[in-house]
Amino acid sequence: MSETTLVIIKPDVVEAGNVGKVLARYEEAGLSIVAMDLRTIDGEFADRHYEEHLERDFYPNLRTFMTSGPMVPLVLRGEGSVARVRELNGATDPTKADPGTIRADFGESGPRNAVHASDSTESAAREIALWFPGL
Ligand code: CMP
Repeated sequence: MSETTLVIIKPDVVEAGNVGKVLARYEEAGLSIVAMDLRTIDGEFADRHYEEHLERDFYPNLRTFMTSGPMVPLVLRGEGSVARVRELNGATDPTKADPGTIRADFGESGPRNAVHASDSTESAAREIALWFPGL
C-alpha cells in the first residue's frame, strides 16, 4: 500500500555536503519526495519530535546535535515506504549497519547517524503533522 513517511537528513550529512547523495538513495528506490525543507530547529521542537526519548540518557547529546545546524526534513511516498526507508537507512548504530546502507555510508556513531526515519505508520502520521502541518 502506498504510504508516507518522514525522514530527517541530519546536520552531519548537511555539513558534509552529502544531501544530494542521500536523496538519490531514496529516489533510486522509487520513492517520491512530496515535501522537503532546509530547517534549523530549537530544543523545544526537538523535544516534541523525540517525545518518547526525553528521559533516555543519550537524549541531551542527541538534542544538542539536532539543534546544532540545518537539517533537511522530507516526506517520502511509496509502496511500504516506512519499512523500505528503514531498510535503506540500515541499523540505528552506523557501526552496525549493513554495508551499502545510508547510515553505514554517511553516518558516524551515536546521534551522528546521518538520518532519522519514522518507525511505524503511526509515528509517520505524528511526525509529518509536526514537521509539515497541513500536508
Ligand atoms: P533517530 O532515528 O534519530 O532516533 C533516535 C536517535 O537517538 C537515533 O536515531 C540515534 O541517533 C540516537 N541514539 C539512539 N541510541 C543512542 C545511543 N545509545 N547513544 C547515542 N545516541 C543514540
